[in-house]
Amino acid sequence: MPQPKVIVIGNEKGGAGKSTIAIHVATALLHTGASVSILDLDLRQQSMGHFFASRRAWLAANGVEAPMPVEHPLPVALSVASDEEALAAFHAAFAAASASDYVLIDTPGGDTAISREAHGLADLIVTPMNDSFVDFDMLGVVDPVTLELKRPSLYSETVWNSRKIRAAASGQSIDWVVLRNRLAPTEARNRKRLDERVQALSRRVGFRVGPGLRDRVIYRELFPFGLTIADLSATIRPVAMSLQHVAARTELRSLMGALGLSSGDERNAVP
Ligand SMILES: Nc1ncnc2c1ncn2[C@@H]1O[C@H](COP(=O)(O)OP(=O)(O)OP(=O)(O)O)[C@@H](O)[C@H]1O
Ligand SMILES: [Mg+2]
Repeated sequence: MPQPKVIVIGNEKGGAGKSTIAIHVATALLHTGASVSILDLDLRQQSMGHFFASRRAWLAANGVEAPMPVEHPLPVALSVASDEEALAAFHAAFAAASASDYVLIDTPGGDTAISREAHGLADLIVTPMNDSFVDFDMLGVVDPVTLELKRPSLYSETVWNSRKIRAAASGQSIDWVVLRNRLAPTEARNRKRLDERVQALSRRVGFRVGPGLRDRVIYRELFPFGLTIADLSATIRPVAMSLQHVAARTELRSLMGALGLSSGDERNAVP
């Protein structure tokens, strides 16, 4: 049986952009013609699950077609179930998802048993972080006086453990990419300081630094339609097009390239 590529979008920090990255990577992959299974482990919030439900409804209402993933919804009741029960449900869903080319897993901002388990099954972990020392704190501890990197912190340890588990179970390694999200054009000084710490941490704990995403309205305004910039075409155009959209599309293409994934963008040029 061919194995799917398992992509986990993770960061224990809430609001870092996990679900935003998840829906953009998922839709970009779908436009390559690949089969994509999605698992939303944020059992209460279910941003990715809601996104694809909206997509189905929007496409039906507008009489147009766009590729859909294979969904493997986990019930919200699992959020109060025992770890054993939640893990059993996760493993059943993961086994079903493994028939696709890609399994894309969105995780909650926090440490749960199923999120940890998913990290241990990943081929690729993608970690968005806001351009802020508040977000960096989940990855590394910096000295308050010198701002030098002192040691890896909570989430880096989670990924470190996942790598050990994956290596022991299958002898395989996990590629880990950290990318900065919601970059603002005006924060040059803060960004430079943060850049240096991210680079130092990358050498210490072994992740690659991916290209960042700017803070752009288009990354959030298509959410209620269940669409992303990767979907926009002559027939799918719920908002007026602008140059921002072209720039966002270029960013998404670079992100996919850095993750080693095709974006399907060649097929779907913005008119
Ligand atoms: N590049 C971006 N440009 C503009 N808005 C963004 C961008 N990335 C994320 N956002 C917005 O930031 C907020 C947090 O993003 P998101 O929900 O994707 O984070 P998350 O890590 O999934 O959060 P949680 O931990 O709660 O699941 C959302 O309102 C989202 O629309
Ligand atoms: Mg989320």
